[in-house]
Amino acid sequence: INQLAGKDFLTLFDYDSDEIADLLTLAKDMKQRHKLGEIYQPLKGKVMGLIFEKASTRTRVSFEVGMYQLGGTGLFLSSKDIQLGRGEPIADTAKVLSGYLDGIMIRTFAQEDVETLAKNASIPVINGLTDTFHPCQVLADLQTIEEVKGTLKGLKIAYIGDGNNMAHSLMIGAAKMGMHFSTAAPEGYLPDETIVNQAKEIATESTITVTTDPVEAVKDADVIYTDVWASMGQESEQQKREQLFAAYQVNQALVNHAKPDYLFLHCLPAHRGEEVTASIIDGKHSAVFQEAENRLHAQKALMTALLADA
Ligand code: CP
Ligand code: NVA
Repeated sequence: INQLAGKDFLTLFDYDSDEIADLLTLAKDMKQRHKLGEIYQPLKGKVMGLIFEKASTRTRVSFEVGMYQLGGTGLFLSSKDIQLGRGEPIADTAKVLSGYLDGIMIRTFAQEDVETLAKNASIPVINGLTDTFHPCQVLADLQTIEEVKGTLKGLKIAYIGDGNNMAHSLMIGAAKMGMHFSTAAPEGYLPDETIVNQAKEIATESTITVTTDPVEAVKDADVIYTDVWASMGQESEQQKREQLFAAYQVNQALVNHAKPDYLFLHCLPAHRGEEVTASIIDGKHSAVFQEAENRLHAQKALMTALLADA
């Protein structure tokens, strides 16, 4: 895992399957230590800046608590309060923060901004969600699938709904780990074609299927995943999207096409009655709170790998 020291975590494209598997093993180890009440502080004295240009419950709390548990400190930096929000260049912010901090996590809109931050920072940068990717969430998702199903390789994951940041990162994660991935959304809301093609190239041992038919996507799935129809920044499209996506709700009729022991996941926050019914997300196939908890363990693994002394 030490080979990851100093690296950025901007998208899952930059990590090979062995590196992802190593992170998942470390995440499992972090979880075990935590459950045993062990004090484990490989990041003693380290400080990680957490820049947020969008709201967050899970990401903010899991990064802050994770750093604290690892012996370090997480510093919450709302873009409303730092000069970045008043137009200070990202490159300058990166250079300044590199003089104080040991790592930066950023949640923002444009993926390009995260890339600019990383290029100009001399410390590791972690993508805490952009409009295009949400790779930290996928580490926790893979950890959860492995816990419940015992394996990843060969499983089929169906992502139903908007072709957004979650769709992209899950697709890459699935392709890297040898999982079949299928997704369904209305025309015009399918995942980015370039990313789909890149995922197809990675998926040498599995299939990537993009369709407008939710039943086809869900057929014989081991895992069903969905996300909000209107993401952060798309609030004004909420009503239009509610109509467009109505046929893509994850409900009992749809999950009947999946494997009988299917697992339901959602990155949260969820809108019951929109992308998923209450009976599914609160039902016995759902592991959404285990998944949310795993954000803590997976990110502790990630931060330890990237911030540890090489
Ligand atoms: N899933 C997720 O990233 O949640 P938050 O927006 O609450 O961080
Ligand atoms: N697609 C959602 C994910 C939230 C964790 C958003 O970007 O708002």
